[in-house]
Amino acid sequence: MGLELCIHMISLLFFILSGAGADMNVGVYNVKDYAAVGDGQTDNTKAFESAWSAACAVEGTATIVIPEGAYLLGPIIFKGPCKGKMVMQVKGQLLASTHLEAYTQNWLDFQYINGLVISGGGIFHGQGASAWPYNQCPKTRKCKLLPANLVFSFVTNATISSISSIDSKLFHMQIFESRDITLDSIRISAPGDSPNTDGIHIADSTNIQVANSVIGTGDDCISIGPGCTNLTIFNVLCGPGHGISIGSLGKNANEKDVSGLTVSKCTFTGTTNGLRIKTWPSSPSRLMATGFVFEDIIMNNVYNPIIIDQNYCPFANCPEKDPSLVKIKDIKFRNITGTSASPEAIKLVCSKAVPCEGVELNDISLKCTGDDEQAKNMTSTCVHVYGSSNGNVKPDPCI
Ligand SMILES: *[C@@H]1O[C@H](CO)[C@@H](O)[C@H](O)[C@H]1NC(C)=O
Ligand SMILES: *[C@@H]1O[C@H](CO)[C@@H](O)[C@H](O)[C@H]1NC(C)=O
Ligand SMILES: *[C@@H]1O[C@H](CO)[C@@H](O)[C@H](O)[C@H]1NC(C)=O
Ligand SMILES: *[C@@H]1O[C@H](CO)[C@@H](O)[C@H](O)[C@H]1NC(C)=O
Repeated sequence: MGLELCIHMISLLFFILSGAGADMNVGVYNVKDYAAVGDGQTDNTKAFESAWSAACAVEGTATIVIPEGAYLLGPIIFKGPCKGKMVMQVKGQLLASTHLEAYTQNWLDFQYINGLVISGGGIFHGQGASAWPYNQCPKTRKCKLLPANLVFSFVTNATISSISSIDSKLFHMQIFESRDITLDSIRISAPGDSPNTDGIHIADSTNIQVANSVIGTGDDCISIGPGCTNLTIFNVLCGPGHGISIGSLGKNANEKDVSGLTVSKCTFTGTTNGLRIKTWPSSPSRLMATGFVFEDIIMNNVYNPIIIDQNYCPFANCPEKDPSLVKIKDIKFRNITGTSASPEAIKLVCSKAVPCEGVELNDISLKCTGDDEQAKNMTSTCVHVYGSSNGNVKPDPCI
């Protein structure tokens, strides 16, 4: 074989190989190819929107790649329905714009998508610190909401894994009117005193699983609103924050029931609450919250490890005085151990109008973080509660 022929063969080989390589990249949408610049300063909103539009229009699996770098982004709606499954592979850091006037609602809003994967180890940074002083919601009922970091509404069949959300302006992740979603290996962090920075808020959704995650914020690590069914929370470390909460329920008319929730193998550290169900007094309509299991939980210095509060009022005073109309039923607390920062480790304050039913306390051992004197004061409180206690329960059970 002559040298020339040999070179020709090699270049032909290269041609075939690179051709095949390009073929494998069909369905890959690198935001850099849409003029995104990861310098932390360039506004990449348009680039990300263009990459999404292109990817959303193709059949099969479309992968949006966000390489290393810091990408400044204003609010974006990643809207479906898309032709195929959408994958967002985030290696870099996405930085939320700090210009509040640019936001009408949230930061990154995923809507009407069937088949979505977000992963890659990247970071969604809400840059909330400069916005938090403008949040009036902890003080007054009528307030303008700051943008949430990541919102999923009308999303089905999704896996969100191995990503971090940091310093959101409001909630870090919000799931609404969605189903069949798994969140795995998520890290969420914001300072313990940042307002309404809930980790994950889920409402009107079904078959949602949160597993193997670490959440520390200024509000609930996970909060579950009305209309949720079949939720599973497994192996989550929570703290700082307000714990895992169902509610608050019964604030607005037309709220739907909450049923079927399992919280297991979770650890709470230094949180104000551990496992909490909260409902507003004077609910405008009747509602049910049923079928919850809380098991294999560790509490470390938690102020209210186990709490049902049907007189929930986060403000200095609430004018409503009528009892809550949210019926709480079939709630099991099993194998909960550790320490309480307050002597009232178990507090079950239910509604006079619709008492709690089927509340079970099984194998609970909560000691006081404080001295012996305080330890003597350990109590459990029950108001309008029916149910049973089994096994060893410390402090002594009130049911
Ligand atoms: C959900 O995704 C899986 C795997 O991608 C697919 O097999 C299934 O059909 C999807 N379900 C729906 C309702 O589209
Ligand atoms: C509940 O959700 C889990 C996933 O979180 C799913 O595997 C299971 O099938 C669901 N159960 C029902 C009854 O839909
Ligand atoms: C109780 O929960 C702890 C913490 O999750 C776990 O290690 C232990 O195995 C559980 N005990 C039983 C009897 O299931
Ligand atoms: C224990 O409870 C009693 C009566 O409520 C109270 O007077 C006392 O200060 C408490 N002790 C501690 C250490 O909290």
